[in-house]
Amino acid sequence: MKLKTAIFYQIVLFSWLTVLLSTVAWAEETAIPSEQLGAIFPNASDFVEKKSDLTPEKIASIEAEIETELRPEDLKPTFYIAVDENKKPVGLALFVAVEGPGGIINGSAALDMTGKVVKVRVYKHSEAAGIADEKFLAQFSGKGIVDKFEVGEDIEPLAGEEAASQAVALIPKKMLAISYALFLKRPAEADEDVPETIEPEDLKEVMAMMMDEYDLIRTYFQVEAGSRDTQDKKAAVQAVKRLVRHAEFITYFEPPKNPNNTEEYGYLQKQFHDAIQAFAQALEAEGVSEKTQKQWQEIIDLVDKAHLRFSVEEIDLDEY
Ligand code: HEM
Repeated sequence: MKLKTAIFYQIVLFSWLTVLLSTVAWAEETAIPSEQLGAIFPNASDFVEKKSDLTPEKIASIEAEIETELRPEDLKPTFYIAVDENKKPVGLALFVAVEGPGGIINGSAALDMTGKVVKVRVYKHSEAAGIADEKFLAQFSGKGIVDKFEVGEDIEPLAGEEAASQAVALIPKKMLAISYALFLKRPAEADEDVPETIEPEDLKEVMAMMMDEYDLIRTYFQVEAGSRDTQDKKAAVQAVKRLVRHAEFITYFEPPKNPNNTEEYGYLQKQFHDAIQAFAQALEAEGVSEKTQKQWQEIIDLVDKAHLRFSVEEIDLDEY
């Protein structure tokens, strides 16, 4: 999968939706608007309903974000998780109503597994017909939680229909704000210490980026104790922080071996990500110590395990 925006460190939604799925009962088929959902996710095998409740704190934070009051029905949103034949989540949809200049506009917004809008649809409204056209609605696809959804900025209005266009833009904006408030993780804040990284095109490129950091950290551990200085430590800590960020790209791409074992793949990525994050903190505090040496070895063992399971090639990091 190709990332659409340049620097976009986002935890994949996969693990979150999988966790979510394990907490919901399979809903009655009749309760699910399968026709509309099928038009949004034509490749999904099934849909799972997930009802939620917004707490007063969440309501306040969502309203601050979308700069509009939520409607009464928004407070108990019913999400639909699209799943494939292996019950693996492939996306998330919410039916949303917003207030247009002519009255209520009923629509839906759906996200893919990276938190990007797949589709916005408008079903019932009293505005110009064009606001329900795919031609107008297509511009929302690919946007995400970091986008503004503002007419005149990142949204091209329907000619002469600025207010109605802005109202429709609220459908995905509101859906994203509610989804993130409830169960999705926001992109990590940029760490000013760590320069931005380029967008990788495929898994090999992610690995090449990680390899650079790996080399730096490995060298730091290999330097003789007496010759290590604070500059070495700073460089190593920064390399580990970059590694944390690179690691977030891993699950954006399918591994060449065992590509269907997405759960295990996501799990290993998360283990690696968490271990590296704890290691970054310890390294910053302690430099080379018994603890950080042990952590580093555990990380390498984890990487070996991941490569054995998911790479077709034998990978010996010391030979790269
Ligand atoms: C310090 C961490 C890591 C380093 C330095 C690293 C390094 C590498 C290198 C050098 C390759 C070979 C790339 C090539 O053929 O050009 C590779 C491939 C691969 N790595 Fe990693 N890796 C790391 C962590 C991980 C983790 C945590 C995972 C999975 C959870 C992973 C999954 C893979 C997969 C699936 C491939 C095969 C990619 C392909 O052939 O398209 N790696 N890695």
